[in-house]
Amino acid sequence: MRAVPVLVPITVLLFLANAAAAQQPSGSRPAASVLELMKSIVIPASDAVFGVGKEAPKNDKDWTAVQDSAAKLTDAAKLLMRQAPSTDGANWVKYSNAMSAAAETAGKAAKAKNVEAVLDAGDVLYGTCDDCHKRYMKK
Ligand code: HEC
Repeated sequence: MRAVPVLVPITVLLFLANAAAAQQPSGSRPAASVLELMKSIVIPASDAVFGVGKEAPKNDKDWTAVQDSAAKLTDAAKLLMRQAPSTDGANWVKYSNAMSAAAETAGKAAKAKNVEAVLDAGDVLYGTCDDCHKRYMKK
């Protein structure tokens, strides 16, 4: 019986501590929302850009879709930048910036309906994904 009033506040404190920890990326561990960003935007949008190599866009609608995906990647890179871990954050920002720039180049290439240029930008883009994952993705 006597344990109950003690246990409740501790549970509440633990809960609050966990909630506070979830707000702030600690050390070099990326925030949970990075994974969400990857799954909801980065992966599908980059697939659309890389996919130009498998099947070239056939009409204006297809090209617009590639352009939109590239724009989404630019936006996602900007969101990603804000998720930089509190230690070793400089490289994170560098890779996010590189991703943003490559996505912008891909978008311009899609606007010009230039398959080769989209693929070139796609190669650079892929390099930025890879650079960041090598350094920050926990195995
Ligand atoms: C600035 C850093 C950064 C950049 C740039 C970046 N990612 Fe990620 N990505 C991460 C981190 C960190 C994780 C691991 C997140 C986790 O597990 O919490 C991740 C996870 C992933 C995953 C695994 C998702 C899963 O279900 O486990 C994929 C796939 C992925 N990223 C694709 C991409 C692609 C494609 C690009 C480029 C267009 C990209 N990422 C660019 C940091 C980055």
